[in-house]
Amino acid sequence: MQLLSGFSTWSTEEKLGWVLDEWMKRSGADSCSGVREEMLSWMKSFWHVNAPTQEIFRNFSENNLSNFFLPYGVVPNFLLNDRMYIVPVVTEESSVVAALSKSAKFWAEHGGFHARVLGTEKLGQIHFYSRIPASEMQKVFDAALPALKEAAVPLLSRMKQRGGGITKIDLLDKTTEEPGYYQIRVGFTTADAMGANLINSVLEEMAQALKEFVGCETGSNVDIIMAILSNYTPNCLVESWVSCPALSLTKHTHLGERFVERFLKAVRIAEIDVGRAVTHNKGIYNGIDAVILATGNDFRAVEAQGHAYASSSPESPAGYRSLSKASVDEQGIFHFCLKIPLTLGTVGGITAVHPLAKFSLQLLGNPSAAELMQVVASVGLAQNFAAIQSLITTGIQQGHMRMHIYNMAKQLGASPEEILALRRAIGTDTVTHSRVQYILEEIRARRGKDP
Ligand code: MEV
Repeated sequence: MQLLSGFSTWSTEEKLGWVLDEWMKRSGADSCSGVREEMLSWMKSFWHVNAPTQEIFRNFSENNLSNFFLPYGVVPNFLLNDRMYIVPVVTEESSVVAALSKSAKFWAEHGGFHARVLGTEKLGQIHFYSRIPASEMQKVFDAALPALKEAAVPLLSRMKQRGGGITKIDLLDKTTEEPGYYQIRVGFTTADAMGANLINSVLEEMAQALKEFVGCETGSNVDIIMAILSNYTPNCLVESWVSCPALSLTKHTHLGERFVERFLKAVRIAEIDVGRAVTHNKGIYNGIDAVILATGNDFRAVEAQGHAYASSSPESPAGYRSLSKASVDEQGIFHFCLKIPLTLGTVGGITAVHPLAKFSLQLLGNPSAAELMQVVASVGLAQNFAAIQSLITTGIQQGHMRMHIYNMAKQLGASPEEILALRRAIGTDTVTHSRVQYILEEIRARRGKDP
């Protein structure tokens, strides 16, 4: 087996050329047919027309060949804390934006979304092994603490000016779970930055300082295994909620009074059944990830911390559960709320570099990270409301498949005129792949007969 070496150092043209040669071999394309040249210009057609902008995209990650497009859209009418937002969203999933827009409009007419930040602390961990017994380690740690804090000072000076810094440094004795294993847990606030790079740099400096201090002072060795932030952030938390008289919801769908009753049951099921809870929460992240992507934030971190919280928060002692809750109080008021951890940034990372991420933040009014947390959580709640509403009334396939007509028709090689005719012919009927195929064949047959 021959392995490539130095691939990342090749120019984009060289990488693209090599990949297309491989693609030719693997796809069985005819090497004399000019396909390679066609593919080359096709791959390049996704490059940004403006060379400096393409250069920005190219530098986001290694081994870059081209760009991968996703639709960028907006959700208007998003009323949150008495302020009207236009929320930018990036998603490939049909019907997510339509559902979100419908939910946003409904709630704008019923008091809007409300949100508040409950905490902004992020965590970092230094994992190490030592022969120093647990009975002595706390004393050693206390003595090392000034050196650890000192090591962080140069890196944190700018963050301190912006109101961030270290909130706590604790030693955790893990030796009962694993002989010799200790952990230093560091709390941070990072103002408007997501702060991952800063946190990791501080942790690495502290780890080095710990190693040196313990070596010099005790002659004992500390084996630093790793120093890295934790994506478990139960103290970087935001809460969003909506409420309105339950009676207002009875007019909302054909279910009348049964709507609220069924809605509460749907949420209850997600509180007690893990199979449903995961899907319920996935629906929440359909909305959340769309804003996270549009604003250049880290959706992997946000998903990881959310699902961890769903299985280990004080409200979920029995394991993974729904992140949202619904109830109707004695006054007949319907309440629907979502509490989730979100580590977001509105400065740093790619937020100012990706042209559309920058635009998204401007469209949101250049929010602080705390304000963005409230927007994102409320979008998650709006999406969850929309999903449950569909599920307990028509089922989601009706709206979802209607939005999917274009993709199905495209797969069947339909032209724009055929897609238009297809949409008209389907009307409000149930959409299935076979039905789309059948109607398209009919359209084509009819056209074939036309003079
Ligand atoms: C589909 O992407 C998301 C839903 O399955 C969420 C849910 O079931 O609540 C509709």
